[in-house]
Amino acid sequence: MFKSQKSFIGFTIASFLLSLNLIAQPAHDETEENLPKDYLTKDFHTGRRDALRQIMPDNSVMVVFAYPTRTFSNDVEYLYHANPDMYYFSGYKEPHSLLLIFKEEQQDSLGNSYNEVLFIQKRNPKAEQWTGKRLGIDGAKETSGIQTVYNASDFKSFAIDFSKYAKIIVDRFPEDVPDGFDSADLFDLIKQFKEKLATAEVLKDQKRFDNRLFTQLTADLREIKTPEEIDLLRKAVEISCQGQNEVMKTVHPNMSELEIQGLHEFVHKKHGAEGVGYGSIIGSGENGCILHYMENTKTKVGNSMLLMDVGAEYHGYTADVTRTVPVDGKFSDEEKSIYQIVYDAQEAAFKTLKNGSKWSDANKAAKDVIAEGLVKLGIIKNKMEVGKYYPHGLGHHIGLDVHDRGNYSTLKKDMVITIEPGIYIPEGSDCDKKWWSIAVRIEDDLLITENGYELLSHFSPRKIEDIEKMIKEKSVLDNYKLPPLESKKKGF
Ligand code: GLY
Ligand code: MN
Ligand code: MN
Repeated sequence: MFKSQKSFIGFTIASFLLSLNLIAQPAHDETEENLPKDYLTKDFHTGRRDALRQIMPDNSVMVVFAYPTRTFSNDVEYLYHANPDMYYFSGYKEPHSLLLIFKEEQQDSLGNSYNEVLFIQKRNPKAEQWTGKRLGIDGAKETSGIQTVYNASDFKSFAIDFSKYAKIIVDRFPEDVPDGFDSADLFDLIKQFKEKLATAEVLKDQKRFDNRLFTQLTADLREIKTPEEIDLLRKAVEISCQGQNEVMKTVHPNMSELEIQGLHEFVHKKHGAEGVGYGSIIGSGENGCILHYMENTKTKVGNSMLLMDVGAEYHGYTADVTRTVPVDGKFSDEEKSIYQIVYDAQEAAFKTLKNGSKWSDANKAAKDVIAEGLVKLGIIKNKMEVGKYYPHGLGHHIGLDVHDRGNYSTLKKDMVITIEPGIYIPEGSDCDKKWWSIAVRIEDDLLITENGYELLSHFSPRKIEDIEKMIKEKSVLDNYKLPPLESKKKGF
């Protein structure tokens, strides 16, 4: 379909000339095709820098370093994860980079004005053959919308007099960055930054060299999500819920925790999630009592309860969803009692949520329900003991970090948070044995609205009867069969 007759005529003339080879055919660029189309745009990143400038104090500069690359083992590195603040303000995801954002317009020695500068990894065909394509200066300009972009090697000679700024707003930078082979890697950028500061004697001036202001300003911005961010979070959450659902439908007692982790992450990847926002937690029985259990080494999950805390990361934004399910398809009476308390606590917290409500109100509502429930079951004697079996906070912001930046006081419209009460009763606890090894967490992701909230993770069931129903359903993942391993036949 063409918009107008004129463009149709233009199109046909162009096709005719192309067929005669009279105009150059655009090169077939595979890098553009078959790539996701829903990345954050340069308008988003530009908008975030503008919003930052609005709240920066007069005569200040914000300094954002890339995260360092990290050794996994010997000469193998961990998959690189960009510093969320660098990504938020620039979209630049490569290591060895530095971003400066100024409150006011600056002028260089030639009279050119700028209010932001990005220093990036230089293009290097040899290095790129090993570690992948770099954006380079043009690509970084296009991605970030920043017009003043230099190679990192130019930072050394970049003229900047830090002594003239009332505030240098910088996050705590890592002190253990190794000196690489490059003379313009993160090690050098940090060293040169410190040298420039030392000249200005600013390092000693705690009032001007301000870490806390960095945390404050980034929390003020990042805790309220823009529509683009909400779209990406919705997607990450929906993907995570689908992972939960397919696992519920296909899980059986002979599966291993690792296999279940793989099934979740397969569903995530099927939908284009690049990774997970934190190590997936698949804890069966007693393992569910370990809050951040990530080994997932049990070879058979058996018939006990299975706690699955898994969050797909989609274009940098992570979900955080927990479902706890009976692998045999039916909650026992004890499991039911504990699960229902956690469910009621979550519902009680939900009821407090809206623009202007307090985190502390939600916390209190959930904690009261859990404390009362545990007293009623005789698991604790008085409500003050609730922390024994509910040892963590109620929730947190999600976004570019799973525990995202935020102020954690008043809830506001367009915040995206988790509500995740839990009860964990490890073996040997000071209560009737029948409760031992029951662990339940229900974690949902919610968008705060003017008058309440939207349950983003509604795609996956939370109620006892709905979970039992879903476990009975068939999954597309049922009955996949891999050939047995030779080593297994030998008894390993
Ligand atoms: N998955 C970590 C947490 O729930 O906070
Ligand atoms: Mn969480
Ligand atoms: Mn979680």
